[in-house]
Amino acid sequence: MSIFNGLDEIVERDHPLASHTWYRLGGPADYFIRPRTVDDLVEVIRRCNENHVRLHVMGFGSNLLVSDEGVRGAVVKLEEGQFAQTEFEGEQVTAWAGAQLSQLVLDCVEKGLSGIEVLTGIPGSVGGAIKMNAGGRFGDIGSAVESVTLLDSQGGLFEKSKPELIFDYRSVNIRAPFILNAKLKLTQADPEQIMRTVKESWVYKKNTQPLNTRNCGCIFKNPEGTSAGALIDRAGLKGLQVGGAAVSDKHANFIVAGDGCTSRDIMRLISAVQQRVREQFEIELDPEIEIWK
Ligand code: EPU
Repeated sequence: MSIFNGLDEIVERDHPLASHTWYRLGGPADYFIRPRTVDDLVEVIRRCNENHVRLHVMGFGSNLLVSDEGVRGAVVKLEEGQFAQTEFEGEQVTAWAGAQLSQLVLDCVEKGLSGIEVLTGIPGSVGGAIKMNAGGRFGDIGSAVESVTLLDSQGGLFEKSKPELIFDYRSVNIRAPFILNAKLKLTQADPEQIMRTVKESWVYKKNTQPLNTRNCGCIFKNPEGTSAGALIDRAGLKGLQVGGAAVSDKHANFIVAGDGCTSRDIMRLISAVQQRVREQFEIELDPEIEIWK
């Protein structure tokens, strides 16, 4: 009898992950699971625990590198049914983990709600954005979060709200494996002003980032007080290649996947960049992206 007996509609075996990542790279997951309701998800957690199957949670793969060998165990992606919802109520929105961040930003702009327009141009899911406290030079998602609903590793549901949530640079103190949804507090504002911020963010990105390439956003976190992109640039590494992977000529903290690129190429290029920056500046670059080896 199969571990996920009766859950055939949401579980796929040996499912290639490449198409679920922005890099379009990576091998298969033993089990690829797309629950549609919280009850589905709780059942999946129960089965995994009972059968000692390791659980991995993925967002929309815009900040994720999956190894060419893929992932052993189960990969859960929240993108369907209940998980894709957003519910507006006055100046508050409850955004579920599998809602698209970029769509949420647009919906808020349309309703004249200010607070997350600074996230314009950031791809990915709401769940992923919360987990990594997505943001940029104009602000981050954490500052709009009132509370989050979480599931622990046993499938237990609980909430964490503002005083307990510590958002930091690209991180938050959430250890629970599943973020189900987040309540965001926005403020009614002048739609034209919000739109101006949106446009400014887009122009900035378009001018400084290689948007129409296969990439994963910024590869490294900015070390305190300095910019990873600027360091890599100053080390003369723009254009550096390993196999099909290259450091972007436009923004040095981006690694672009070209034809024939493998995940291994990207990993080797990451190491090469780290080594050169270490040698030249005695600074250790820490990846911002999640890497599943
Ligand atoms: N710079 C260079 N050479 C480069 C790239 C940048 O000299 O090749 C310099 C720029 O001229 C600038 C400084 O480095 O003076 C900072 O660059 P930028 O404004 O592009 O910002 P960043 O710190 O590199 C951050 C986020 C981005 C976000 C932008 C804009 C991190 C690691 N990166 O980049 O986020 O889009 O601000 O808001 O925090 C991401 O997280 O995936 C991401 C792309």
